[in-house]
Amino acid sequence: MTTRTKNIQTVCVIGGGGFVGHYLCSQLAAAGYRLRVPTRHRERVKQGLLELPAAEVFDCNVMTEAGLAAAVHGCDAVINLVGILHERRRGDFDRVHGEFPGKVVEACRRNGIHRYLHMSALGAAPDAPSRYLRSRAAGEAAARKAAGNEVAMTVFRPSVIFGVGDSFLTLFAGLAALPLVPLAGADVEFQPVWVEDVARAMAASLENAETFGQTYELGGPQVFRLRDLVRKSAQAAGHDPAIVGLPGPVAYLQALVFEHLPGPIMTRDNLASMQVANVARGSWPEVFAPGPQGLDAVLPTMFGNRDPMDRYRRRAAR
Ligand SMILES: NC(=O)c1ccc[n+]([C@@H]2O[C@H](COP(=O)([O-])OP(=O)(O)OC[C@H]3O[C@@H](n4cnc5c(N)ncnc54)[C@H](OP(=O)(O)O)[C@@H]3O)[C@@H](O)[C@H]2O)c1
Repeated sequence: MTTRTKNIQTVCVIGGGGFVGHYLCSQLAAAGYRLRVPTRHRERVKQGLLELPAAEVFDCNVMTEAGLAAAVHGCDAVINLVGILHERRRGDFDRVHGEFPGKVVEACRRNGIHRYLHMSALGAAPDAPSRYLRSRAAGEAAARKAAGNEVAMTVFRPSVIFGVGDSFLTLFAGLAALPLVPLAGADVEFQPVWVEDVARAMAASLENAETFGQTYELGGPQVFRLRDLVRKSAQAAGHDPAIVGLPGPVAYLQALVFEHLPGPIMTRDNLASMQVANVARGSWPEVFAPGPQGLDAVLPTMFGNRDPMDRYRRRAAR
């Protein structure tokens, strides 16, 4: 482990207990940072971060003012990875993506913290076709407004992120055990980016002043249609289903049904997000060289062992 000699010693990773968070915390810990990881699921998250003695995982509701203040207290930088794909209640996107980032940056200012990394999503725009993407744009704007000249903020907008433990390709690999996959948005383009590359970019930006105030779109080296991603994931998991693209109205009906299932896998708002390609406007940012890993190099390693703890064990080399 490296010993840090720079300005930032302790980093609060809000949402650090999730998929991206585990990889980012591993990389930050390896770089010598101390980590504070507030979560609503301490036991589960602690299990996953066991190999990281530098990470202090604690129960905390960051959605309350007191919880947020306690979470960032004593930190030199804050990273916000909080995000949801589906709303449990109408308005969740606005609360979690739209309003919360501004509150995080205000908490940074109150605690004299001058560095903030913000996870957003590719396609975030005030006029985007889905409430998810519009709420992402609102969150970026709220954080930027709160930051002013006091907090150096960097925004990351990745395309879909893949890696052991992801939900996107893993979901499709699981569905692919069916003989036929009826697929909404089959021809929509995505630019999957490896989770280790996203984590690497975020970790590298933390103390690099060149990245202050910047927004980075992160995509992998190749663009795939959704149907090709599903096929590749299926094949990596040992299946070869027929993939049938659904026409618009049928896709809408499918999403309508799916969003009423417990733990929905697709909603009408997700479908709306797919009206625009999920592809970065430029190439991989030079400041985060070398370029990203391709999907084909990683996929064969993803579905060999379905034990959910395996991802942590692998990284801990246990
Ligand atoms: N994965 C992708 O393909 C992808 C693509 C583009 C952007 N992103 C964005 O990247 C970020 C990380 O994604 P991920 O895949 O790691 O997601 P994840 O595994 O679902 O983790 C999300 C984290 O957000 C926290 N969170 C969600 N709702 C919360 C709430 N109401 N209060 C407090 N914490 C809450 C959770 O904290 P707890 O520990 O308390 O549960 C969890 O650790 C998200 O913002 C996501 O939208 C992801």
